[in-house]
Formats: sequence, C-alpha cells, structure tokens
Amino acid sequence: MFESKNKYFGRKKGKSFVRLKRFQDELKQPTNAIFKRIKIPRVLEIGIGDGEKISKDAKDHPNTNFIGCDIFADGVLRAIRNSLENNLKNLLVFHSNIQEILPSVPNNYFHGIRVFFPDPWPKARHKKRRTFNISLVGELSEKLKKNGFIHFATDHSDYFLDALILMKESNYRMDNIGPDSWKYNEYNALNTKFEKKALDKNHKLFYFSVLKNY
Ligand SMILES: C[S@@+](CC[C@H](N)C(=O)[O-])C[C@H]1O[C@@H](n2cnc3c(N)ncnc32)[C@H](O)[C@@H]1O
Repeated sequence: MFESKNKYFGRKKGKSFVRLKRFQDELKQPTNAIFKRIKIPRVLEIGIGDGEKISKDAKDHPNTNFIGCDIFADGVLRAIRNSLENNLKNLLVFHSNIQEILPSVPNNYFHGIRVFFPDPWPKARHKKRRTFNISLVGELSEKLKKNGFIHFATDHSDYFLDALILMKESNYRMDNIGPDSWKYNEYNALNTKFEKKALDKNHKLFYFSVLKNY
C-alpha cells in the first residue's frame, strides 16, 4: 500500500494475501496522467472488498471503464489477477484510500460512483470513522458529472438514513425513492460478499441510487 496520511481503521490484509502478493508488481499509483488516459464512461467503486463484483461487472460490461479502490490488499490483488486472466482492459484498481485518489481525478469525471456495504462503524463513538460522510460527498460531487449517479447499499438502517439525508442536503435528485425502492429484491441485489453475509444473518438491506442534479 502507498503511504497514507489519512487514518484508516479496518483490516489491511487477509488470509489470501500470501497467494496473491505476486500481483503486487502490477499495482499502480493514482496519478492525473493515468486518469486522463481512461475513456468514458467511467464508474468508480469505493471499497471493492474481495474484488469479485467489480471484476465480474468489468467482464460483463466491456464498454464501461471500472475504477476501484480499497485499503484491503487481498481484494485489490484479486481484481488484478482477474483482470489479467480475463484480459480486461476496462478495469483499474488501486490499493489506496479513496481520499488519496481523488486529488488526481479531474472534476466532472465519473458517470457513476458505487459504495456497497461500507464499514458501518455502528457504535456512536465510532460514527465519525464512516467513509461516506459530508466531507467525502463534497469531494465526490466535484468529480461526478452532471446527471451522474451515486449507488449506495448498506445493512445498517441508520447509515442508510444518514446517507440519504446527505444526498438530499447535497441537492441530489431522488426520484421514486421509498420503501419499495430501497428494500432487497431481485433488481437491487448486488451479489457482493458483504451482501451475502448480511442476508445469511437475516439483516434488512437498504439501497438507493440518486442523480447529481447540477
Ligand atoms: C464491509 S466491506 C464491503 C466490501 C464490498 N463492497 C462488499 O459489498 O462485499 C467495506 C470495504 O471498504 C473498504 N474501505 C473502507 N474505507 C475505505 C476507504 N476510505 N477507501 C477505500 N476503501 C475503503 C474496506 O477495506 C472494506 O474492504
């Protein structure tokens, strides 16, 4: 991982790291030059977890360019492995905190931003550690194109409500959002590792997709 000034509290390596570390040489540092080379449309995923969802989506949607990041090494290296094995030219992942990446990204750049099951930090005293907060949303809004989407999912109702309020206060368009749209169903299902874990625990799941209006 590249040296980070930003504090991060989660897990940085897992059990598969030893198997995957041979892909470390393929890691790239986020630079303005790299971002300028990526063609449209571009979708950012923050916190790719095990790296499988972004790899599958890149394979299934070859005309969309997927850019992902995570501080957890295993998933980033797995996405690199998947990308090499499947010769995916439309997938680029960084072993970085999102805050380290955004300064290199031009404004009005992404067509969409995905945040799936971010670490919930459920204890009141830890809430300030949540990634999807007012400061990040301010920065993301600069990087998102007009009419670009933010797609968010969580199994924590208070994180969901806080995120939705943040979207409203940040003037995002929230067409057709209501109890029918935010619950788990075949259209909302994302099939990520943490979605499956939450389903196994019988948690309620919440989803929204909103559009930048300006
Ligand atoms: C609970 S996991 C969810 C992973 C995946 N999205 C899923 O649904 O299975 C949250 C992930 O976000 C990553 N993460 C947390 N804060 C981050 C940040 N500031 N920048 C990049 N990734 C972050 C964590 O390392 C972790 O892999």
